Amino acid sequence: MPLQEVLMLARSRQQGVPIILKHPAAAVSAVSTFLTGFRGQTMYAVKANPCPDLLRTLWESGLRSFDVASIHEIRNVRSLLPYANLNFMNPIKSEQAIREAFTSHNVRCFSFDTATELRKILRVTGQDVAVTKTLTLCLRIQVESSHARLNMSRKFGATAGEAVTLLKAARMQAQILGICFHVGSQSMDPDAHRQGLIKADNIALEAGVKIDWMSVGGGFPVPYPGMNPPPPIHYFDVIHSTIAELPRLREAQLWCEPGRALSAEYNSIVARVEAVKKNSAYINNGLYGDLHDPARYNWPVDATLLCDLTDPGDLGDFSLYGPTCDDDDFIRGPIRLPKKIAPGDAIWFRNVGAYGTALRTKFNGCHVEDEEYFVTG
Ligand SMILES: Cc1ncc(COP(=O)(O)O)c(C=O)c1O
Repeated sequence: MPLQEVLMLARSRQQGVPIILKHPAAAVSAVSTFLTGFRGQTMYAVKANPCPDLLRTLWESGLRSFDVASIHEIRNVRSLLPYANLNFMNPIKSEQAIREAFTSHNVRCFSFDTATELRKILRVTGQDVAVTKTLTLCLRIQVESSHARLNMSRKFGATAGEAVTLLKAARMQAQILGICFHVGSQSMDPDAHRQGLIKADNIALEAGVKIDWMSVGGGFPVPYPGMNPPPPIHYFDVIHSTIAELPRLREAQLWCEPGRALSAEYNSIVARVEAVKKNSAYINNGLYGDLHDPARYNWPVDATLLCDLTDPGDLGDFSLYGPTCDDDDFIRGPIRLPKKIAPGDAIWFRNVGAYGTALRTKFNGCHVEDEEYFVTG
């Protein structure tokens, strides 16, 4: 259904459940930017938005590889896309998850950032005794998150000193030896990826081993209100020119792992106003629904009141409360909306496809149901 029709329909619906709009054309456009512009392989980080229809859209657009973080993601993607290439990029995994991934789902690429995890992967997959090496072993290194809106420098990643030892150990067991990093999500400056590559090259140089595979991770940003990052192609140019000058990496197969960049524009939502108290509007979506990032990180949100008034009147600065009884279910704003906003009105929120739906919970019995519409064009 064309966008305007969906929005009109969404406005007229008074069922009280959130309305989710899916925008396949946006995902097709986002993934083709990567498939045509990035000189390497792109794997989609499924965690950002695991909706089967999005995964299918990406596959039909030509994407063949997926970054999976858990055995549930692996099962889901494998059942949906039997021929997809799945890379288990979570550096800490249970033995059971590794075993099932390897034996039942043909996963051959595993990341790690400690000697314990490396030994675990080798033992569980039988590669510690195997003559023929079949694994891609990918060392996650720690890099700065200073340009990112969401830090990812603390939880995972071997330090430079640890990485040298780990690379040497993994080289003996790996068919393909890789390095990966993550510069943090919504990284606003491509220099972070450049610095990550330089650090990876220095580590490889010190370890004196051949690196076959290099992933620059995710972090590719999308425009949100008040955040205007350079376009993806700018990031690609920096990555391509940097890697071309790095002696240990320039022959390596290059990868990236975008999550947000391929999913943000896939979903928009229409929420209903249930009440208005002074400058707070109480709506039927929020932190525990599809509006995680605006609520939790106070990111500006693209909100439009759906109304047919040619003159919506004066605008005011609003905060929003979601439908649960929790004070934290709150979007601070200021969100510019007409002052005459009233119960029953509908607000359209754009670009909420990344880490929104994926983080939705049933807390308070809210966000259990929704209505979905596919937007054409
Ligand atoms: C290993 C890994 N790769 C890729 C991503 C995707 O990151 P982004 O959504 O910032 O592109 C994540 C996100 O958490 C991740 O953990």
